[in-house]
Amino acid sequence: MKNKFFLFIFLIVIMFAIKPCNIKAQNFKFAAMSDSRGDYEGVNQPVLSALINHLLKKNSDTKFIVFPGDLVSGNKYSADTTEKQLNYWQKTMAPIYNDSNMVWPKIWVSVGNHEIQNSKDEGLFKEEFQNVFMNGPEDEKGLTYSFDYDKVHFVFITTNRWNYSESDEGGNNDWHYVKHLDWLNNDLQSAIQRGNKYLFVMGHETAFPIGGHLKDGLPNLGNHLTLPIDSTRKWYLIQRDMFWKILSENKVTAYICGHEHLYARESINGVYQITSGSCGAPLYYFNPTSNDVKKKSFGWSEFNYQEAIPYYKALNYFYGPGEDSQASKDFFGKRAFVYVTLNVTPDFVYINTYGCYPKANSDRIMGSKIQLLDTFKIKRKL
Ligand SMILES: [Fe+2]
Repeated sequence: MKNKFFLFIFLIVIMFAIKPCNIKAQNFKFAAMSDSRGDYEGVNQPVLSALINHLLKKNSDTKFIVFPGDLVSGNKYSADTTEKQLNYWQKTMAPIYNDSNMVWPKIWVSVGNHEIQNSKDEGLFKEEFQNVFMNGPEDEKGLTYSFDYDKVHFVFITTNRWNYSESDEGGNNDWHYVKHLDWLNNDLQSAIQRGNKYLFVMGHETAFPIGGHLKDGLPNLGNHLTLPIDSTRKWYLIQRDMFWKILSENKVTAYICGHEHLYARESINGVYQITSGSCGAPLYYFNPTSNDVKKKSFGWSEFNYQEAIPYYKALNYFYGPGEDSQASKDFFGKRAFVYVTLNVTPDFVYINTYGCYPKANSDRIMGSKIQLLDTFKIKRKL
Protein backbone atom coordinates (compact mmCIF):
# COMPACT_ATOMS: atom_id res chain seq x y z
CA MET A 1 0.00 0.00 0.00
CA LYS A 2 2.79 2.33 1.04
CA ASN A 3 4.70 1.51 -2.20
CA LYS A 4 1.59 2.25 -4.27
CA PHE A 5 1.21 5.60 -2.53
CA PHE A 6 4.83 6.55 -3.33
CA LEU A 7 4.40 5.36 -6.92
CA PHE A 8 1.30 7.58 -7.23
CA ILE A 9 3.18 10.61 -5.86
CA PHE A 10 6.11 9.83 -8.18
CA LEU A 11 3.82 9.73 -11.24
CA ILE A 12 2.17 13.02 -10.27
CA VAL A 13 5.58 14.67 -9.93
CA ILE A 14 6.67 13.30 -13.35
CA MET A 15 3.41 14.53 -14.91
CA PHE A 16 3.91 18.07 -13.64
CA ALA A 17 7.60 18.00 -14.54
CA ILE A 18 6.92 17.02 -18.17
CA LYS A 19 3.55 18.46 -19.14
CA PRO A 20 4.21 22.18 -18.58
CA CYS A 21 7.35 21.93 -20.74
CA ASN A 22 5.41 20.39 -23.63
CA ILE A 23 2.73 23.03 -23.41
CA LYS A 24 5.21 25.86 -23.10
CA ALA A 25 7.12 24.68 -26.15
CA GLN A 26 4.21 25.51 -28.43
CA ASN A 27 1.21 27.31 -27.14
CA PHE A 28 0.58 30.75 -28.44
CA LYS A 29 -1.88 32.68 -30.50
CA PHE A 30 -1.27 34.91 -33.50
CA ALA A 31 -3.75 36.72 -35.75
CA ALA A 32 -4.06 37.22 -39.50
CA MET A 33 -5.48 40.35 -41.14
CA SER A 34 -5.16 41.80 -44.63
CA ASP A 35 -6.48 44.44 -47.02
CA SER A 36 -7.49 47.50 -45.02
CA ARG A 37 -7.44 50.03 -47.83
CA GLY A 38 -10.25 52.55 -47.91
CA ASP A 39 -11.46 56.11 -48.15
CA TYR A 40 -9.91 57.65 -45.01
CA GLU A 41 -6.41 58.73 -46.11
CA GLY A 42 -6.14 55.44 -47.98
CA VAL A 43 -7.41 53.34 -45.05
CA ASN A 44 -10.87 52.11 -44.04
CA GLN A 45 -10.20 53.41 -40.55
CA PRO A 46 -13.66 52.74 -39.01
CA VAL A 47 -13.61 49.03 -39.92
CA LEU A 48 -9.91 48.49 -39.18
CA SER A 49 -10.20 50.22 -35.80
CA ALA A 50 -13.29 48.22 -34.85
CA LEU A 51 -11.55 44.93 -35.68
CA ILE A 52 -8.33 45.66 -33.80
CA ASN A 53 -10.24 46.96 -30.77
CA HIS A 54 -12.23 43.71 -30.75
CA LEU A 55 -9.03 41.70 -31.04
CA LEU A 56 -7.38 43.53 -28.15
CA LYS A 57 -10.46 43.01 -25.97
CA LYS A 58 -11.46 39.42 -26.84
CA ASN A 59 -8.09 37.98 -27.88
CA SER A 60 -5.75 39.89 -25.61
CA ASP A 61 -3.35 36.91 -25.52
CA THR A 62 -2.48 37.39 -29.22
CA LYS A 63 1.31 37.59 -29.59
CA PHE A 64 1.52 39.24 -33.00
CA ILE A 65 -0.37 39.92 -36.24
CA VAL A 66 0.54 38.84 -39.77
CA PHE A 67 -0.67 41.32 -42.41
CA PRO A 68 0.08 40.28 -46.03
CA GLY A 69 -0.57 43.39 -48.05
CA ASP A 70 -2.90 46.11 -49.30
CA LEU A 71 -2.65 48.03 -46.06
CA VAL A 72 -3.50 51.21 -47.98
CA SER A 73 -4.93 52.29 -51.34
CA GLY A 74 -1.59 53.63 -52.57
CA ASN A 75 -1.11 56.02 -55.44
CA LYS A 76 0.27 55.39 -58.90
CA TYR A 77 1.46 58.96 -59.43
CA SER A 78 2.68 60.02 -56.00
CA ALA A 79 4.87 58.02 -53.62
CA ASP A 80 4.46 60.91 -51.13
CA THR A 81 0.73 60.23 -51.00
CA THR A 82 1.38 56.52 -50.38
CA GLU A 83 3.84 57.45 -47.62
CA LYS A 84 1.19 59.59 -45.91
CA GLN A 85 -1.29 56.73 -46.19
CA LEU A 86 1.16 54.24 -44.66
CA ASN A 87 1.77 56.68 -41.80
CA TYR A 88 -1.97 56.98 -41.27
CA TRP A 89 -2.25 53.17 -41.27
CA GLN A 90 0.46 52.97 -38.59
CA LYS A 91 -1.41 55.61 -36.57
CA THR A 92 -4.64 53.59 -36.89
CA MET A 93 -2.76 50.50 -35.68
CA ALA A 94 -1.30 52.39 -32.69
CA PRO A 95 -3.40 50.40 -30.16
CA ILE A 96 -1.59 47.26 -31.39
CA TYR A 97 1.86 48.89 -31.40
CA ASN A 98 1.19 50.20 -27.87
CA ASP A 99 -0.06 46.88 -26.51
CA SER A 100 2.41 45.55 -23.96
CA ASN A 101 1.31 41.89 -24.29
CA MET A 102 2.39 41.62 -27.91
CA VAL A 103 5.94 40.78 -28.93
CA TRP A 104 8.27 42.65 -31.32
CA PRO A 105 7.52 43.90 -33.92
CA LYS A 106 3.82 43.22 -33.14
CA ILE A 107 2.78 43.42 -36.82
CA TRP A 108 4.58 41.53 -39.60
CA VAL A 109 3.76 42.88 -43.06
CA SER A 110 4.33 42.25 -46.74
CA VAL A 111 3.44 44.31 -49.78
CA GLY A 112 0.27 43.93 -51.83
CA ASN A 113 -0.35 45.29 -55.30
CA HIS A 114 -1.61 48.58 -53.84
CA GLU A 115 1.73 49.33 -52.18
CA ILE A 116 3.65 48.74 -55.43
CA GLN A 117 2.27 51.19 -57.95
CA ASN A 118 5.18 53.57 -58.36
CA SER A 119 8.91 53.02 -58.96
CA LYS A 120 9.67 54.52 -55.53
CA ASP A 121 7.17 52.35 -53.65
CA GLU A 122 9.33 49.32 -52.79
CA GLY A 123 12.00 51.52 -51.21
CA LEU A 124 9.32 53.47 -49.39
CA PHE A 125 7.73 50.33 -47.95
CA LYS A 126 11.09 49.04 -46.72
CA GLU A 127 11.73 52.42 -45.11
CA GLU A 128 8.35 52.42 -43.34
CA PHE A 129 8.61 48.81 -42.13
CA GLN A 130 12.21 48.25 -41.13
CA ASN A 131 11.47 45.70 -38.42
CA VAL A 132 11.77 42.60 -40.59
CA PHE A 133 14.54 40.03 -40.99
CA MET A 134 16.95 40.68 -43.85
CA ASN A 135 17.29 37.02 -44.79
CA GLY A 136 15.32 36.96 -48.07
CA PRO A 137 16.61 36.57 -51.63
CA GLU A 138 19.16 39.24 -52.57
CA ASP A 139 16.80 41.36 -54.69
CA GLU A 140 13.87 41.04 -52.25
CA LYS A 141 15.64 41.75 -48.95
CA GLY A 142 13.30 43.66 -46.66
CA LEU A 143 10.24 42.40 -48.58
CA THR A 144 10.63 38.60 -48.43
CA TYR A 145 11.81 37.12 -45.11
CA SER A 146 11.28 34.36 -42.58
CA PHE A 147 11.67 33.59 -38.87
CA ASP A 148 10.96 30.97 -36.22
CA TYR A 149 8.79 31.63 -33.20
CA ASP A 150 8.42 28.92 -30.57
CA LYS A 151 8.99 26.00 -32.97
CA VAL A 152 6.73 27.53 -35.62
CA HIS A 153 8.19 28.88 -38.87
CA PHE A 154 6.77 31.94 -40.65
CA VAL A 155 7.69 32.92 -44.23
CA PHE A 156 6.58 36.13 -45.92
CA ILE A 157 6.78 35.86 -49.68
CA THR A 158 6.32 38.63 -52.23
CA THR A 159 3.69 38.12 -54.93
CA ASN A 160 3.77 41.71 -56.23
CA ARG A 161 6.88 43.58 -57.33
CA TRP A 162 7.19 46.94 -59.05
CA ASN A 163 9.08 45.21 -61.79
CA TYR A 164 11.14 42.05 -61.74
CA SER A 165 13.34 43.34 -64.56
CA GLU A 166 16.28 45.69 -64.11
CA SER A 167 14.56 48.56 -65.90
CA ASP A 168 12.25 51.07 -64.26
CA GLU A 169 10.16 51.29 -67.39
CA GLY A 170 7.02 49.27 -67.81
CA GLY A 171 6.60 48.59 -64.10
CA ASN A 172 3.71 46.46 -62.93
CA ASN A 173 4.26 43.99 -65.75
CA ASP A 174 5.52 41.24 -63.55
CA TRP A 175 2.95 40.74 -60.83
CA HIS A 176 1.21 37.55 -59.85
CA TYR A 177 4.00 35.10 -59.23
CA VAL A 178 6.58 34.05 -56.67
CA LYS A 179 9.96 34.69 -58.22
CA HIS A 180 12.18 32.83 -55.78
CA LEU A 181 10.72 29.35 -55.51
CA ASP A 182 14.14 27.78 -54.84
CA TRP A 183 14.72 30.16 -51.94
CA LEU A 184 11.29 29.27 -50.54
CA ASN A 185 11.92 25.53 -50.84
CA ASN A 186 15.33 25.80 -49.16
CA ASP A 187 13.93 28.03 -46.43
CA LEU A 188 11.14 25.56 -45.61
CA GLN A 189 13.48 22.57 -45.65
CA SER A 190 15.94 24.19 -43.27
CA ALA A 191 13.02 25.19 -41.02
CA ILE A 192 12.02 21.51 -40.85
CA GLN A 193 15.61 20.51 -40.09
CA ARG A 194 15.68 22.99 -37.18
CA GLY A 195 12.74 21.08 -35.67
CA ASN A 196 9.85 23.44 -36.39
CA LYS A 197 6.48 21.76 -35.91
CA TYR A 198 4.30 24.02 -38.05
CA LEU A 199 5.08 26.09 -41.15
CA PHE A 200 3.02 29.11 -42.26
CA VAL A 201 3.52 30.97 -45.53
CA MET A 202 2.09 34.47 -45.97
CA GLY A 203 1.69 36.26 -49.31
CA HIS A 204 -0.71 38.80 -50.73
CA GLU A 205 -2.37 37.05 -53.68
CA THR A 206 -4.53 33.93 -53.61
CA ALA A 207 -3.05 30.79 -55.17
CA PHE A 208 -6.62 29.60 -55.83
CA PRO A 209 -8.86 32.60 -56.62
CA ILE A 210 -12.12 32.62 -54.68
CA GLY A 211 -14.01 35.61 -56.05
CA GLY A 212 -13.31 38.95 -57.67
CA HIS A 213 -9.82 37.97 -58.81
CA LEU A 214 -10.65 34.90 -60.84
CA LYS A 215 -8.72 36.49 -63.68
CA ASP A 216 -5.55 37.14 -61.67
CA GLY A 217 -4.12 35.97 -58.36
CA LEU A 218 -1.19 33.61 -58.85
CA PRO A 219 -2.80 31.68 -61.79
CA ASN A 220 -3.13 35.05 -63.61
CA LEU A 221 -5.41 33.91 -66.43
CA GLY A 222 -6.21 37.47 -67.53
CA ASN A 223 -9.25 38.80 -69.35
CA HIS A 224 -11.10 37.17 -72.23
CA LEU A 225 -9.91 33.63 -71.59
CA THR A 226 -10.52 31.11 -74.37
CA LEU A 227 -9.53 27.47 -74.27
CA PRO A 228 -7.07 25.89 -74.79
CA ILE A 229 -4.96 28.31 -72.76
CA ASP A 230 -2.04 30.03 -74.45
CA SER A 231 1.63 29.66 -73.49
CA THR A 232 1.80 32.82 -71.32
CA ARG A 233 -1.17 31.75 -69.22
CA LYS A 234 0.22 28.24 -69.05
CA TRP A 235 3.49 29.65 -67.67
CA TYR A 236 1.67 31.40 -64.80
CA LEU A 237 -0.36 28.28 -64.04
CA ILE A 238 2.82 26.17 -63.93
CA GLN A 239 4.44 28.74 -61.58
CA ARG A 240 1.39 28.56 -59.31
CA ASP A 241 1.44 24.75 -59.39
CA MET A 242 5.15 24.66 -58.56
CA PHE A 243 4.57 27.08 -55.67
CA TRP A 244 1.78 24.93 -54.24
CA LYS A 245 3.79 21.72 -54.72
CA ILE A 246 6.56 23.22 -52.58
CA LEU A 247 4.04 24.02 -49.83
CA SER A 248 2.48 20.58 -50.06
CA GLU A 249 5.75 18.59 -50.15
CA ASN A 250 7.14 20.51 -47.18
CA LYS A 251 3.93 19.91 -45.19
CA VAL A 252 3.08 23.59 -44.79
CA THR A 253 0.12 24.09 -42.44
CA ALA A 254 -1.47 27.01 -44.28
CA TYR A 255 -0.92 29.70 -46.87
CA ILE A 256 -2.40 32.91 -45.46
CA CYS A 257 -3.31 35.53 -48.04
CA GLY A 258 -5.61 38.42 -48.90
CA HIS A 259 -6.13 40.33 -52.18
CA GLU A 260 -9.68 38.99 -52.50
CA HIS A 261 -11.91 40.97 -50.16
CA LEU A 262 -13.63 38.01 -48.57
CA TYR A 263 -13.03 35.40 -45.88
CA ALA A 264 -12.51 31.77 -46.96
CA ARG A 265 -10.64 28.59 -46.14
CA GLU A 266 -10.16 25.38 -48.09
CA SER A 267 -7.56 22.62 -48.24
CA ILE A 268 -5.85 21.71 -51.49
CA ASN A 269 -3.37 18.79 -51.58
CA GLY A 270 -3.18 18.87 -47.80
CA VAL A 271 -2.44 22.60 -47.44
CA TYR A 272 -5.00 25.13 -46.29
CA GLN A 273 -5.43 28.39 -48.15
CA ILE A 274 -6.82 30.87 -45.62
CA THR A 275 -7.97 34.12 -47.22
CA SER A 276 -8.32 36.80 -44.58
CA GLY A 277 -9.10 39.32 -47.25
CA SER A 278 -10.79 42.33 -45.80
CA CYS A 279 -10.20 44.50 -42.80
CA GLY A 280 -12.03 47.27 -44.60
CA ALA A 281 -11.31 46.93 -48.32
CA PRO A 282 -14.59 46.89 -50.34
CA LEU A 283 -16.14 43.43 -50.12
CA TYR A 284 -16.35 41.23 -53.22
CA TYR A 285 -18.66 38.33 -54.07
CA PHE A 286 -17.55 34.70 -54.31
CA ASN A 287 -17.04 33.01 -57.68
CA PRO A 288 -20.48 32.77 -59.33
CA THR A 289 -22.20 29.38 -59.09
CA SER A 290 -24.85 27.86 -61.34
CA ASN A 291 -27.46 29.37 -58.98
CA ASP A 292 -26.18 32.82 -59.96
CA VAL A 293 -26.72 32.22 -63.66
CA LYS A 294 -29.24 35.04 -63.97
CA LYS A 295 -27.07 37.62 -62.21
CA LYS A 296 -25.32 39.90 -64.62
CA SER A 297 -23.18 42.09 -62.44
CA PHE A 298 -20.71 40.95 -59.83
CA GLY A 299 -18.85 44.20 -59.38
CA TRP A 300 -16.10 45.86 -61.40
CA SER A 301 -13.75 42.90 -61.74
CA GLU A 302 -16.11 39.97 -61.41
CA PHE A 303 -17.60 37.70 -64.05
CA ASN A 304 -21.05 36.24 -64.40
CA TYR A 305 -21.39 32.44 -64.34
CA GLN A 306 -21.16 31.91 -68.11
CA GLU A 307 -18.08 34.12 -68.41
CA ALA A 308 -16.49 32.27 -65.49
CA ILE A 309 -16.84 28.74 -66.90
CA PRO A 310 -13.63 28.77 -69.06
CA TYR A 311 -11.74 29.91 -65.93
CA TYR A 312 -13.23 27.07 -63.87
CA LYS A 313 -12.18 24.62 -66.57
CA ALA A 314 -8.63 25.98 -66.76
CA LEU A 315 -8.34 25.99 -62.96
CA ASN A 316 -9.92 22.55 -62.55
CA TYR A 317 -12.59 23.93 -60.18
CA PHE A 318 -15.73 22.15 -59.01
CA TYR A 319 -18.58 23.89 -60.79
CA GLY A 320 -22.11 23.12 -61.94
CA PRO A 321 -25.27 22.28 -59.96
CA GLY A 322 -24.60 21.90 -56.24
CA GLU A 323 -20.96 23.02 -56.51
CA ASP A 324 -19.31 26.12 -55.01
CA SER A 325 -17.21 27.00 -58.10
CA GLN A 326 -14.08 26.66 -56.00
CA ALA A 327 -10.87 24.62 -55.92
CA SER A 328 -11.88 22.31 -53.08
CA LYS A 329 -15.00 20.50 -51.90
CA ASP A 330 -14.30 21.62 -48.31
CA PHE A 331 -14.52 25.30 -49.24
CA PHE A 332 -16.10 27.54 -46.60
CA GLY A 333 -16.42 31.28 -46.89
CA LYS A 334 -18.16 34.39 -45.57
CA ARG A 335 -18.64 37.75 -47.24
CA ALA A 336 -17.51 39.72 -44.22
CA PHE A 337 -14.83 41.96 -42.74
CA VAL A 338 -12.70 39.68 -40.56
CA TYR A 339 -9.64 38.93 -38.53
CA VAL A 340 -8.49 35.35 -37.96
CA THR A 341 -6.88 34.00 -34.79
CA LEU A 342 -4.64 30.93 -34.91
CA ASN A 343 -4.03 29.24 -31.59
CA VAL A 344 -0.99 26.97 -31.88
CA THR A 345 -0.94 23.95 -29.55
CA PRO A 346 1.26 20.82 -29.62
CA ASP A 347 -0.99 18.77 -31.92
CA PHE A 348 -3.47 21.16 -33.52
CA VAL A 349 -3.82 24.76 -34.61
CA TYR A 350 -7.25 26.01 -33.53
CA ILE A 351 -8.57 28.73 -35.80
CA ASN A 352 -11.32 31.21 -34.93
CA THR A 353 -12.50 33.87 -37.34
CA TYR A 354 -14.23 36.99 -36.01
CA GLY A 355 -15.94 39.55 -38.16
CA CYS A 356 -18.98 41.48 -39.20
CA TYR A 357 -21.24 41.68 -42.22
CA PRO A 358 -21.59 44.81 -44.35
CA LYS A 359 -24.48 47.23 -44.09
CA ALA A 360 -27.22 46.68 -46.72
CA ASN A 361 -26.20 48.10 -50.11
CA SER A 362 -22.69 48.88 -48.93
CA ASP A 363 -19.43 47.04 -49.50
CA ARG A 364 -17.40 49.11 -47.02
CA ILE A 365 -19.56 50.02 -44.00
CA MET A 366 -20.10 47.66 -41.07
CA GLY A 367 -23.69 46.47 -40.71
CA SER A 368 -23.52 44.06 -37.78
CA LYS A 369 -21.61 43.61 -34.56
CA ILE A 370 -18.35 41.65 -34.62
CA GLN A 371 -18.99 37.98 -33.85
CA LEU A 372 -17.44 34.53 -34.22
CA LEU A 373 -17.98 33.52 -37.88
CA ASP A 374 -15.95 30.34 -38.23
CA THR A 375 -14.05 27.83 -36.14
CA PHE A 376 -11.94 24.89 -37.34
CA LYS A 377 -8.67 23.12 -36.58
CA ILE A 378 -5.66 21.85 -38.52
CA LYS A 379 -3.65 18.82 -37.34
CA ARG A 380 0.13 19.03 -37.00
CA LYS A 381 1.95 17.32 -39.88
CA LEU A 382 5.60 17.60 -38.74
FE1 LIG B 1 -4.61 43.21 -53.64
